[in-house]
Amino acid sequence: MKDFDSNKRREFLKTSAILAGGAILSSIPLAGAYAAGRGTIKIALIGCGGRGTGAAFQALETKHDVKLVAMADAFRDRLDESYKSLFGKYGKSKVNVPESKKFVGFEGYKKAIAEADVVLLAAPPGFRPMHFEEAVKQNKHVFMEKPVATDSPGIRKVLAAAEEAKNKKLNVVVGLQRRYQNNYRETIKRIEDGAIGDIVSGQVYWNSGGVWVRPREANQTEMEYQMRNWYYFNWLCGDHITEQHVHNIDIANWVKNSYPVSAQGTGSRFQRTGKEYGEIFDNHTVEFLYADGTVIQSQCRHYEGTRNRVDESFQGTKGRVYLSANNSGRLWDYKGNVLYDHAGKNDPNPYQAEHDELFAAIAAGQYKFADAERSALSTMTSLLGRYATYSGQEIKWEDALNSNVDLMPETLAWDAMPKVLPDANGFYPVAIPGKTKVI
Ligand SMILES: NC(=O)c1ccc[n+]([C@@H]2O[C@H](COP(=O)([O-])OP(=O)(O)OC[C@H]3O[C@@H](n4cnc5c(N)ncnc54)[C@H](O)[C@@H]3O)[C@@H](O)[C@H]2O)c1
Repeated sequence: MKDFDSNKRREFLKTSAILAGGAILSSIPLAGAYAAGRGTIKIALIGCGGRGTGAAFQALETKHDVKLVAMADAFRDRLDESYKSLFGKYGKSKVNVPESKKFVGFEGYKKAIAEADVVLLAAPPGFRPMHFEEAVKQNKHVFMEKPVATDSPGIRKVLAAAEEAKNKKLNVVVGLQRRYQNNYRETIKRIEDGAIGDIVSGQVYWNSGGVWVRPREANQTEMEYQMRNWYYFNWLCGDHITEQHVHNIDIANWVKNSYPVSAQGTGSRFQRTGKEYGEIFDNHTVEFLYADGTVIQSQCRHYEGTRNRVDESFQGTKGRVYLSANNSGRLWDYKGNVLYDHAGKNDPNPYQAEHDELFAAIAAGQYKFADAERSALSTMTSLLGRYATYSGQEIKWEDALNSNVDLMPETLAWDAMPKVLPDANGFYPVAIPGKTKVI
């Protein structure tokens, strides 16, 4: 078991600081991985839903010679829909995926990965650890969506594969796109340079009305139902504190240049209590405590009819900052003077920037991106929050990271059973703070 102890934490922070500067780590001489000058960069898409299809568009929109050559999805209809829109836009010159390179089911990812130089991983996050591990094993550069796991064993698998990716000099970009967005980069650079002193507190939010529901259909097995309606099952989604709020939690870790040592919080299902919402909560409020005593408060909820808020604020010893994905980045001192105001009207779309930067590095034979470790640790932070709200206890980072509670089903097959099952009335067990044990 990999233990991310304090020494490792210090060593990691050093490395991540180097990477945050966008330094070229080295050129890529590795046998097996795509190297500069090899011609067309072949990509494979694993998980052909909304975001995966979007990521494929963005990869194909880069100015490099990129071609989609293989696709894998659990479901044939999702793959077909994605293929149709990609082929419809680009035709055969950029989307050349014959029937024999379309892979359906739980095992297809291995064959799709084998066809490509770069893989786009965008299945539900529960599968990310196994998909990422396989991509690195096969020496592929990776773009993978956040979050990167839904439980602690999954995080440890991603951390191990991240280490292997570094040794193999495989570029890995993770879809925490605020890291590729100018207002965040420019504003946080100024915080790192000391513009508002040391950060001592903060608040991060993802409060919205919630997302889609995919209703149960006749003749679905339990596995198929959960896979279709994946948002509401923790083994697949991780709860919305992980699936969405990881974006804002990652900003807290970036601004603190650190990870929390513990968390405590509260959460429940209040508005969204129907059986179609599986087992996840609809609200979480967490206090993340960092080693220097800083407390970052995190709030996420899916309530209809309430105020939407998705952003981040932090207070330093000399001033404060407001950040949001709509290109805001503003620093003030405590007299109210604006120290920096990011005017980002013409900033590139961060979803496109991730791919532009990744494919530029690959095409030039540079090893530049190692996002997996810090993304795994920010995903871990969101899990720490979930463990705190589900249990109602204070949870320590080390205990959370080393937890052996494994949410994945024993077997992945359409007639196999997930670990969480409905009662006779179709309702799923939901965590009860004070009773539920999570780690
Ligand atoms: N960065 C962002 O802002 C952002 C935005 C949206 C989604 N996402 C992330 O992208 C991922 C996908 O989300 P989405 O909105 O596209 O969901 P989606 O349901 O539209 O797509 C998921 C796809 O994965 C397929 N799939 C399920 N299990 C699979 C498996 N084992 N192997 C291969 N394919 C499998 C599904 O059939 C589906 O087609 C999630 O991790 C989500 O958090 C990120």
